[in-house]
Amino acid sequence: MAVATPFSIDSVVVGRSPRMRAVFDYVRVVADSDSSILITGETGTGKELIANLLHQASRRRLRPFVPVSCAILAETLIESELFGHERGAFTGAIKDRPGRFEAADGGSIFLDDVDDVPMTVQVKLLRVLQNRVVERVGGTRAVPIDVRTITGSKRDLRQMAAEGKFREDLYYRLNVIPITLPPLRERREDIPLLVDHFVKRFSEQRGEAPRPLSSGVMQAFMRYPWPGNVRELEHACERIVQTCTCDTVKIGCVPVSVLFHRPASDEPIVETHGHPSAVSLDERLRGVEQGLITWALKVSGGNKSKAADLLQIKRSTLGDRIRKLGLPDRGDAPALHVDE
Ligand SMILES: Nc1ncnc2c1ncn2[C@@H]1O[C@H](COP(=O)(O)OP(=O)(O)OP(=O)(O)O)[C@@H](O)[C@H]1O
Ligand SMILES: [Mg+2]
Repeated sequence: MAVATPFSIDSVVVGRSPRMRAVFDYVRVVADSDSSILITGETGTGKELIANLLHQASRRRLRPFVPVSCAILAETLIESELFGHERGAFTGAIKDRPGRFEAADGGSIFLDDVDDVPMTVQVKLLRVLQNRVVERVGGTRAVPIDVRTITGSKRDLRQMAAEGKFREDLYYRLNVIPITLPPLRERREDIPLLVDHFVKRFSEQRGEAPRPLSSGVMQAFMRYPWPGNVRELEHACERIVQTCTCDTVKIGCVPVSVLFHRPASDEPIVETHGHPSAVSLDERLRGVEQGLITWALKVSGGNKSKAADLLQIKRSTLGDRIRKLGLPDRGDAPALHVDE
């Protein structure tokens, strides 16, 4: 069970893009209501963080915030985890155990990955939300609960309901207040801010002053599409802080997966809820160019003439392109860290 802690939007949840500002404003407006909230967003976009923020900004902040990931629970366990069980309800139920709804009493429950809740449990969940009482598995007593429900989903629940994959009545019950978190690639202006935040945090954990990043590193970060969103960026920053020993973080210290991202020309366009997102041809071409130049410099040990031969261009052209892309010069030929 999570313990309520003081919360400040500016210090913990980072973002200044118009779309994230709109989310923060909305959080302030709806935090104190008791209506159910459905947060939709791709993996790693910050659903749990925003759920926590909603709780901390509400009058329930001194009571528990209980996050539950419905995806990692085996189907048979979900029911007992959410609603609790009485002794002897099933093999292994050796004593009475309250569920997560009871643990969240007076506070908020965050049901992440609600799209993974099986239909059988959806019926019971709807009943709990409607009647505001839980019945433990194998029990007969109805325990009243006062819980604010926040749910998270990676998939579009409305569409799932339309396709018969999610109960429509439960969808309407959960989606009283919808919040959509945009993927990181649609709010790239947040990247420098998030990088500063994470580098500072991981450096502090090591008792070190945060090191500056070269402009080439930031450019590589700005170009990469971050399919794992903020979580992936957080891990990349952690890896850099842990493994880079330079005074200024150079391009060679960036994880290879980020640096060598070369979208295939037939990897078309990411779809968000069935709508194609825009794709920048320039950005993609720059990514391909950067990947090939970095590769050529690496295999030629930083020798630009050899790298230019490999790429079948003039040495001077290679120099121009390296400058334009902000890649490191010969002296800092990438000593690439090996990605797992
Ligand atoms: N705006 C943000 N500012 C600072 N940190 C963030 C932000 N958004 C996400 N994070 C961090 O990124 C990581 C992933 O966030 P979170 O767990 O909330 O995502 P999620 O949407 O619930 O992901 P999943 O769908 O995989 O459960 C966390 O460590 C979180 O602290
Ligand atoms: Mg989550």
